[in-house]
Amino acid sequence: MRRLTWSDVTPKPLWLNRRQLIAGAAALAATPAMARIEAAPSKYSTGDAPNSLEDITTYNNFYEFGTGKSDPSDYAGSLTVDPWSVVIDGMVDRPGTYDLADLVKGQPLEERIYRFRCVEAWAMVIPWIGFELAGLLNRVGVQSDAKFVAFETLLRPEEMPGQASPFIDWPYREGLRLDEAMHPLTILATGLYGEAMPKPNGAPIRLVVPWKYGFKSIKSIVRISLVDKMPQTTWNMLQPNEYGFYSNVNPAVDHPRWSQASERRIGAGLFGGRQDTLMFNGYEAEVASLYAGQDLKVDY
Ligand code: MTE
Repeated sequence: MRRLTWSDVTPKPLWLNRRQLIAGAAALAATPAMARIEAAPSKYSTGDAPNSLEDITTYNNFYEFGTGKSDPSDYAGSLTVDPWSVVIDGMVDRPGTYDLADLVKGQPLEERIYRFRCVEAWAMVIPWIGFELAGLLNRVGVQSDAKFVAFETLLRPEEMPGQASPFIDWPYREGLRLDEAMHPLTILATGLYGEAMPKPNGAPIRLVVPWKYGFKSIKSIVRISLVDKMPQTTWNMLQPNEYGFYSNVNPAVDHPRWSQASERRIGAGLFGGRQDTLMFNGYEAEVASLYAGQDLKVDY
């Protein structure tokens, strides 16, 4: 039986933006990089309609290419993503430098349509292609002392003009508690909209943690380390009173400079876009138990 691709299960108007519809399928076929990736649909996908490919690839935060929303789409073209390898080290049985193809080998790819909520109070819905981080961690063998997973982005100032800024202590870093990393909602994404990951979105491989503010979803990963102490994370290092380690989407805990009670859905038009922010970005049933007994005003 032929495996389903995500386009089998998604009505076309949801995944083609208006311009592509007008240009027709020929425009898609004309781009050589756009080999379709086969991925099974996921029970974890939201029923919300995805944002257009254009919104998803042109309104980005990727400070390695600048702080403007269009900087990643303007400048990330210079990034070399092949060859790509990821170092996996720390408290694992099989540490090493894994070539991307080897890292992905055997991991079941799914299309996961996730809500995505940025700390700046805007939101999108993105049809990622990826696999569960837990699958990879199980493969490399997490040792019993490990309590956290630390991630690092590529450091390559020749191709990442934003890394000239002394404002951030590069490389970009993020971290998860081990149980968060092992949760089935946590994926390593290698594509979206059925294609390899666009460069502005963190090609060739990035983290996606849908119940946390977007900055936890680190892009263009080159290192994954299993550690026993809470790792340093870029935004927490910059502004510890504004960005905690946990960073769970929480409408009841405001950012010190703005409310987190509502959000603007990108692409929903000038007047229709405001909506209430949901606890854990709508994934409360799946993840609330991870934080039982924690005061999320303290562990923000
Ligand atoms: N990863 C790296 N390496 N550098 C970044 O600047 N920005 C984060 C996160 N991952 C960032 C990053 C922030 S603030 C957000 S909101 C998301 O990426 C944005 O992801 P998207 O542009 O794919 O929507």
